[in-house]
Amino acid sequence: MILKIIFAAFSVACIFVQQLAALDTSLGGGSQDIVTWDKHSIMVRGQRVIFFSGEFHPFRLPAPGLWLDVFQKIKAMGFNGVSFYVNWALLEGKEGDFTAEGVFALEPFFEAAKTAGIYLLARPGPYINAEVSGGGFPGWLSRLPTGLRTRNSTYMDATQNYVSNIGGIIAKAQITNGGPVILVQPENEYSSGDPPFPDPVYFRAVEQQYRDAGIVVPFISNDNSPHGFFYDQGPPEWPIYGHDSYPMGFNDDISEWPVDALPTNYGDLHEEMAPNTPYSVIECQGGSWDPWGGYGYNKTAARQGPEYQRVFFKNFYSFGVTIFNIYMGVGGTNWGNMGYPEGYTSYDYGAPITEMRTVERENFSELKLQAMFLQSSPAYATAIPQNNTHANGSYTGNLNIATTAVLGNRTNFFVLRHADYTDTSTAKYHVTLPTSKGNITIPQLGGSLSLVGRDSKLHVTDYDVGGINLLYSTAEIFTWRNFGNHHILVVYGGPGETHELAIQGSGTTRIVEGPQNSVKFDKKQDSTIMQYTASDQRTIVELSNGLYIYLLDRYSAYNYWSIDLPSDTVSGNYTNTTTFLSTPIVKAGYLVRSIKVTDKTINLLGDFNSTTEIEIIGADNDISTLVVNNEPTEFQQDSHGVIKATVNFKGPDISLPVLSEISWKVLDTLPEIQKDYDDSRWMKASLSRSNNTERNLSTPMSLYASDYGFHSGYILYRTNFTSNGGESLHLETQGGSAYGHSVWLNDTFVGSFSGEITAYSWNQTFGLPAKKGQRYTITVLIDQMGYEENGSAGSSDMKTPRGILNYSLSGFKQSDLSWKMTGNLGGESYRDRIRGPLNEGGLFAERQGYHLPGAPISSWKNSNLGPMEGLREPGVAFYATTFKLDMPTGYDIPISLSFANNTDTTSSIRCQVYVNGYQFGKWIHNIGPQDIFPVPEGIWDYHGENYLAVSLWALEKGGGKVEKLDLVAGPVVQSSYPGRSK
Ligand code: GAL
Repeated sequence: MILKIIFAAFSVACIFVQQLAALDTSLGGGSQDIVTWDKHSIMVRGQRVIFFSGEFHPFRLPAPGLWLDVFQKIKAMGFNGVSFYVNWALLEGKEGDFTAEGVFALEPFFEAAKTAGIYLLARPGPYINAEVSGGGFPGWLSRLPTGLRTRNSTYMDATQNYVSNIGGIIAKAQITNGGPVILVQPENEYSSGDPPFPDPVYFRAVEQQYRDAGIVVPFISNDNSPHGFFYDQGPPEWPIYGHDSYPMGFNDDISEWPVDALPTNYGDLHEEMAPNTPYSVIECQGGSWDPWGGYGYNKTAARQGPEYQRVFFKNFYSFGVTIFNIYMGVGGTNWGNMGYPEGYTSYDYGAPITEMRTVERENFSELKLQAMFLQSSPAYATAIPQNNTHANGSYTGNLNIATTAVLGNRTNFFVLRHADYTDTSTAKYHVTLPTSKGNITIPQLGGSLSLVGRDSKLHVTDYDVGGINLLYSTAEIFTWRNFGNHHILVVYGGPGETHELAIQGSGTTRIVEGPQNSVKFDKKQDSTIMQYTASDQRTIVELSNGLYIYLLDRYSAYNYWSIDLPSDTVSGNYTNTTTFLSTPIVKAGYLVRSIKVTDKTINLLGDFNSTTEIEIIGADNDISTLVVNNEPTEFQQDSHGVIKATVNFKGPDISLPVLSEISWKVLDTLPEIQKDYDDSRWMKASLSRSNNTERNLSTPMSLYASDYGFHSGYILYRTNFTSNGGESLHLETQGGSAYGHSVWLNDTFVGSFSGEITAYSWNQTFGLPAKKGQRYTITVLIDQMGYEENGSAGSSDMKTPRGILNYSLSGFKQSDLSWKMTGNLGGESYRDRIRGPLNEGGLFAERQGYHLPGAPISSWKNSNLGPMEGLREPGVAFYATTFKLDMPTGYDIPISLSFANNTDTTSSIRCQVYVNGYQFGKWIHNIGPQDIFPVPEGIWDYHGENYLAVSLWALEKGGGKVEKLDLVAGPVVQSSYPGRSK
């Protein structure tokens, strides 16, 4: 029913579309022919590209020197693409004042992508969602007297400056100008909203803004699930149709899998809705955000781990997906108040590449196996996915197994899984597959195949291994290579599983490594049939046609790497199947970044976390020099040409200051409660009406922080009154999930709300210890957790106000009180152009710039233990220290700030940490779950002086302290990545 309504709305929309098309024919990206597409895939310069991409947000890693490191790791994962959002709120904090400099500049990001050979899908919004404050909308948008994300000119005009600026920056980086950008997604999940939703006039207008800014590459859309909005039914200039998919949901219990969450009809829907566009999943769940009080990211990573990746991602391959973006591919940090209220500082997401840029999660390795297989299988790009309505029992006769076929001209792919994908038991099966030698029931050499619980496998038939026909394989292919007469095929299976392969041709076979009885051989169908049981002891079989087959188990396969090197031409194709399939395969450990063979010399760049035996498979026989990470390295080359060497890992000497032993300074950062505090320069709450359409005012003057230009971090209010004796004060405040507030009468603490995950606002009544005839100041401190997202078009959710919503003071009229307020220094006219509009809040120390290096801390009081000394009463203290770091070179060693989780559950404290001025952590000990805050090199100066500041807000009687705060180094990786600071 819902679908019907949507489709009805859509047909109306289509009429609009056609009319518009008649008016303007410039939308089609027609002015370029480098990136094209058909129903199978995109093509770059005529060459098919399976766009395997990981989402990576440069604004969540404000250390441009590390971007290349990340791109290289994505490349090493077998991916050739990255999708990135741009966060408008960080670039136009003040209306009309667009700036994208320093850590916000995108040019170094484009440069790094190009260097690594990564294509980019740009997703600049203006709306992005992305668990950022306001979904990327700058705070000043909350004053627009209109719904957001509609064709309304007030909204469209507000976006124009941003879109033309960011569009222009991205336009310069398009492949047509020698850059890496090949696709652009305007808007984000424009998939629900108020009528006239779905509004093609609006959607088209957003596209037109980008075309006007110079975007010529194809557009792509991301419906939040396959509704079919704006698909290729109208004129050809509509975007490639894409949708998102988050089947596991968010923040759910770890071990249980949701039922009925595996979409089995997406392939059919695609055929119905957008048959002429490549099947595209723009955001495929690759982890999950985690809310305040959530499970933590290691659990997220496990839940969306390798089992999930095998079952759910392979399901997408069964629909022939060729544009596939994992959200997130790379974790990041919600530094400097950029996050939305439901999320905490870490945005690690449980992604394959962690917030600390490590690649040790199994999610990374599993994805590498999958991506490498598809990149090695050009036939996949044009194979046709078959309807899978009758998948259960097909090909196997076993109703507990579902098989979906993706059939090519010659090569066929079969995706097998449990009919009930949540099944944790093992199913035994035989499978009958169509081959060029007729239908063959496998295994032919006895026994049976097995599918363990929560697993999915890809079987192939008539698969081209560089001119040799692999008639079938139930073992999964990692990759294959062609070196003249010498061919390599690497296959793997789950440990203990029986697999069977057939290589066409009748040559002889020889086991060159592994137990002689580890493989059963036979000849049938004019082919050599071989059966093995996957184990951690590999077997290498040599065939007389020059093919070496590496028979592995999955965990061993994780150690194999094969790097698709970027081509040398600036605007070349990054994925050149011909060269890719002739570069050597490397068996190593932690990470291989690149391998280059020139003039009998092999240059290998990789990262190591232990002493590692490496092998280079497929090198010429006359290699004279091996250089690993710029060090000439001894090696042997065996009679099969395989190079073997040992790379030694040497643990570094790391010495980090012990934070409880160094000297700290402290400042009371709540002088506002002191008698002589002068608030004459604060903003007077003088607006008797608000343009904020989300909520009517309950107070004579607006106290919405956004009405006064304060959009980030802590906000403060003050008002005065002369007491009639013992008043009670009622306050309703709002700050978003897990926020808190504290209230003082002069310098006397009267109460706090310490925060709850589900409390976005709070009503509280305080009895004031006020004496008749005396003049008092009420000071209110509120934690602003960021703005809500604006997921539904036309809504104004992001405007949900922050600050004081309502108040009453017994014996007074509301209008008897006049309020003043402050937030970050300058509000929208923020001062710190380096760290951007959101990094600071309204704490006194922040307003003075004391969180920045160079703060005059020598004049402050000494503090014995800094935040570990803490406060005996409610209040806010600001601790600061400086120390030198001298980290060993040649290693990648993340440094984090680790808070000991206080055992004292009665106190509640909120801390913010600032490293060299960047706010890199918001710790709320009574809510959690984050205790460890990674800070990247580049924010830390690894070879110089660092300034660390910690604010500590104690909300309850008795104050509070941090039990332990440490600098923690690791994991330690001996790295070949050279430049990373700044
Ligand atoms: C999607 C959205 C992303 C992100 C994701 C959840 O719906 O497009 O921006 O919010 O959900 O992490």
